[in-house]
Order: sequence, then structure tokens, then C-alpha cells
Amino acid sequence: MKEYTNGEVIVLWDPDKCIHSRHCIKGLPKVFDRDKRPWIDLKGASSEEITKVIDICPSGALSYRRVSDGEKKIEPSAQIKATKSGPLLIQGDCALTDEEGKVLKDKGPYALCRCGNSKNKPYCDGTHTERGFNDSQ
Ligand code: FES
Repeated sequence: MKEYTNGEVIVLWDPDKCIHSRHCIKGLPKVFDRDKRPWIDLKGASSEEITKVIDICPSGALSYRRVSDGEKKIEPSAQIKATKSGPLLIQGDCALTDEEGKVLKDKGPYALCRCGNSKNKPYCDGTHTERGFNDSQ
């Protein structure tokens, strides 16, 4: 996890989560430039512009907190649990939408297939068991 600050916001970047969607680079090229080192330069835009772009980061690789908030811990309102050799269990306030943005579930709990064999995708239908899905392989 890397941190960058402009004195107002602290931007956090977790490279292991990045899916290279390029929302940041396209949204604020003066701040997010993968050809520069460091690749994040918070002098390129206002804190509001920066947080607006980070809010649309689909992977969560980019996040931020306001310096004025100090170190207070923000409790997540949703949890995703990867079960052993089974589905992803979603709990809490986490909406599920289709690719057009139509809401399929407005909140958890629900279980998402991660083996790829469900006949009721995106939901798990238990097929992972009969197919012998093993997430350790
Ligand atoms: S994880 Fe259960 S059917 Fe795919």
C-alpha cells in the first residue's frame, strides 16, 4: 500500500488490487500518469476532483481519507467472504447490478458463483460441489 498526500487528503494505492481500468488516468491525467514516477502527483488537481475520480475506481485499488478525519477507522458497511472451494458470500449494504446497471439485489446476503459452473449466474447454485471445485489448485 502506497500513500500520497496534498495536506488535505491522503490517497492510498494498493497495486495488488488494480485491474487497470484506467478510470483514474482518463479522468485526471495530470494527477495519474503511469509514465511518471511517482505516478500519482496530487498537485495536478483539487482534492474534490481527485476524490471524485477515486470514487469511480472499480477495483478499490485507489482510496482516500481526509486529513481532517485523522486516523478514525471507517467500518465497512458490507463484507465479501470467499468461502473455501465455494461461492463469494456478500453480506451488508452491497448492491448487485447487471452490466446495464439494473439492480438485481439491493443488499446482501447473497452468494456469487466463483467456480464458473452455476446454471443461475451470477448466483451460486451449489454446482461447485458436484463439479469438485477446489480453489487451492
Ligand atoms: S461457486 Fe457455487 S456454483 Fe459456482
